[in-house]
Amino acid sequence: MPYIARILINYLEHIVGISEPVQCSWEIASPLRNCHQTKYQIQISTDAAFSTKLLDTLWVESDQSSHIYLKEFKPQQGVLYYIRVRCELECEQKRHVTPFSDSATVLGPLSNPNQLKDYFISAEQECDIPLSKGTYLRKAFTLQKRVSTAVVYSTAQGMYQLHLNGHRVSLDQLAPGWSSYERRLLYQSYVVTDLLTEGKNALAAHLGAGWYKGDLSFLHIHNFYGPYTALSLLLEVTYEDGSKELIYTDESWKGDYSPIVESELYDGEIYDANLEQEFFDTPLFDDSSWRFARKVPCTSHRIEAQTGSTVMLQERVSPKLAFFTPKGERVIDFGQNMSAHVEIRGQGKAGDKVVLTCFEVLDKDGNVYTENLRKAKQKITYILKDDKNFVYRPHFTFFGYRFIHVESFCSRSDVDNFCSFAIHSTMEQRGTFSCSNDAVNQLQHNILWGLKSNFVDIPTDCPQRDERLGWTGDAQIFCRTATFNVDTYTFFSKWLRDLALDQTQEGGVPHVVPDVLYKYPFDNWLLNAGTHSAAAWADAAIIVPWVLYLSYGDTTILQNQYESMKKWIDFMKKHANGNIWNYKRQFGDWVALDAEEGSYFGATPNDLTCTAYYAYSTLLFSKTASILGNRNDESYYFSLYQDIVSTFQKTFFDEEGRMTVQTQTAHILALHFNLTPEKYLKKTIKGLQDLLAKHDGHLVTGFVGTPYFCHALSSHDCVGEAYDLLLKDDFPSWLYQVKKGATTIWEHWDGIKPDGSMWSANMNSFNHYAYGAIGEWLYRVVAGLEIDEKSPGYKHSIIAPRIGGNLTFAQAKYRSIYGEISVKWDVEKHNTILLTACIPPNTSATIRLHEAEQVLFSDSLHFSRKDVALEAEAGSGTYKIRYRLR
Ligand code: BGC
Repeated sequence: MPYIARILINYLEHIVGISEPVQCSWEIASPLRNCHQTKYQIQISTDAAFSTKLLDTLWVESDQSSHIYLKEFKPQQGVLYYIRVRCELECEQKRHVTPFSDSATVLGPLSNPNQLKDYFISAEQECDIPLSKGTYLRKAFTLQKRVSTAVVYSTAQGMYQLHLNGHRVSLDQLAPGWSSYERRLLYQSYVVTDLLTEGKNALAAHLGAGWYKGDLSFLHIHNFYGPYTALSLLLEVTYEDGSKELIYTDESWKGDYSPIVESELYDGEIYDANLEQEFFDTPLFDDSSWRFARKVPCTSHRIEAQTGSTVMLQERVSPKLAFFTPKGERVIDFGQNMSAHVEIRGQGKAGDKVVLTCFEVLDKDGNVYTENLRKAKQKITYILKDDKNFVYRPHFTFFGYRFIHVESFCSRSDVDNFCSFAIHSTMEQRGTFSCSNDAVNQLQHNILWGLKSNFVDIPTDCPQRDERLGWTGDAQIFCRTATFNVDTYTFFSKWLRDLALDQTQEGGVPHVVPDVLYKYPFDNWLLNAGTHSAAAWADAAIIVPWVLYLSYGDTTILQNQYESMKKWIDFMKKHANGNIWNYKRQFGDWVALDAEEGSYFGATPNDLTCTAYYAYSTLLFSKTASILGNRNDESYYFSLYQDIVSTFQKTFFDEEGRMTVQTQTAHILALHFNLTPEKYLKKTIKGLQDLLAKHDGHLVTGFVGTPYFCHALSSHDCVGEAYDLLLKDDFPSWLYQVKKGATTIWEHWDGIKPDGSMWSANMNSFNHYAYGAIGEWLYRVVAGLEIDEKSPGYKHSIIAPRIGGNLTFAQAKYRSIYGEISVKWDVEKHNTILLTACIPPNTSATIRLHEAEQVLFSDSLHFSRKDVALEAEAGSGTYKIRYRLR
């Protein structure tokens, strides 16, 4: 029998603090074919049993099972709501009514979040301004009556962990996360009913420097956002008799230093266990020696709710090996590069020191290599207080590493003394890809771990060196691949809001979001060259919302970002010279191999990369205007797009139809962004093939050309060449890294050269997801799981695998908002293919069999010929189709 597998509210099963319109989507599960919804009914209640209903839509005739807005539902502060749905379906001409789903829950937001601006308190003093010590804040209080519900709304300048009566309130990490703090700071919402009692209670917080006041960016600015760490919270207690009690942070709170002597994101933590104050977070603790907390100003313009995913400790990774390097260094190998917290356990004596450094790779001779961390120390120092067993994990930092160098330990160290917990934003894994080639599977693994390592509240370039910034280009390049693998909606929505807030008045888009470069343009490299508006980087403003729209079919993100998108196109228009766009500091085809020796800038000129992106983004914006019904904008920007294309064609093609720029990237952009004049299409494809041949079938592309290389080939009848490129495993290629033992994606093709030497230490990350953007080609082309732009969010999909690369099978699964969609193809003997496709209820798909000569078993579908393919329309259900290739 069909049933509702789950209901999501604004993309989550439990959501807090929604201040935007509440929307729900649900997944229907049914083994039956051709299921589509005819009606739905949604109910909201404040009790889990739904004995009283706050809202009941009754039966609504509709086939819509995603993004249903509950406009009349306005969640109230401190109230927990339950929401459920059922639906009526028609499957194979029969009617079915599902039972009600399990409930999703919504916790109402603070009615006036900005009130928290008035309650920031700090335990730090003036002498602490240049330091990054940990501090405690606490307050004991008595509740006179029995508690019905209690919720804490809290935030901090700096990072904080909240405690109540001896317990951590939540296991989230690095709260309140990183937003453009000057403009907005996010508060967290925690239901704490079970942690409170009638009588004596104590609230406490542990604070550290974090992004707010710790060392930030490669410019090494301390106190970037402000001088003091500070906490602001409201505890709202509702008693059983309905009365309420409000507890805020104020000057009656007490504060002191914590055992954290220093905590920095890049450098790590020094923790002296001798300074521990046992039970500091319980009511009976004597805080008479502590100082009173001081009120400090809020440095953010606004306070808003955190509604999306939080950072948590995730996968537990045990060490694989402990060994001594040729130089005699003690090293622990976790076998996986990642962003993580290392947990140390052991026994020694008071005063013993554990000192370790986390790093990514061994050098050519197998010794510890930390040069590529630049100034980041990634070091833990733990000082023992006694001879009892201890367990320690850092608090306000995280590192990018695979190895740890144990510089000193309280005893002989071994694998049992360590374990790692990957740290990243909580994002459900939505997709998997696998095939018969193990090296490609390892590449897919590396892409996923590159993603996990760099989605730590914001999308970062890398997790290890003194950088870890929200580089817009990296995020733009990778967002579609990311979205195939994990649920990115709330993660990217949050970041896009900061992007919009950080845009310049004119609409320029910063190189990094949150923008931490604009204030200090004294860095030589950026001096006078600008800290915003580079092609392919700034275009994140257009492309990321567009990818979210395509992947989820939700127009909300386009509406929310519309002004930001428009401002960015207008910025380009304003600074373009006769439709050729170029502006100050550009990164071009960043780190391409056709750069001059030692340079980061690829050979493709900025005029070309900039103008290509100008055209592409303008087209996407015109489509966005059309989707939102803004006809004037649609036609204005479409005609601008046509003008740019025409200028591009006149400028970058000569009279014989040869591109004036003879680089792989120039050809890739011209082909993939449809900028090639129809009459020169064949020549341009041939041009790209020749440029590939010139490098013996290898790419020499950078950030701009690489993501689209295989697409440019496969969508122009060169599927074989695209597979050849993917499967190359000598230098430079994706699988070369795999062969060299990579477990994440490298920043440079020549991060480690064939002779074992390395690209210069100052820019050599082994955990940069940008080149992992090949991942979307695996899903979209190899497995053939494609979104239909006319019916996005997989409401109607296109299943069109491209068989090749000597693979004997390939498979992709993706949990869409409608449920799991999957494709698997197996090569059977005599050139026959068995295709298994699963299409979720309430959706449909076109199944396109490229290069098919004949369908041998159609599983009741009706195939007809469309050029070189055979095509059929399919409703929901699982199909097994056997066909012969030409
Ligand atoms: C980052 C890159 C980024 C680039 C732009 C680097 O430092 O690591 O990934 O996109 O700067 O110049």
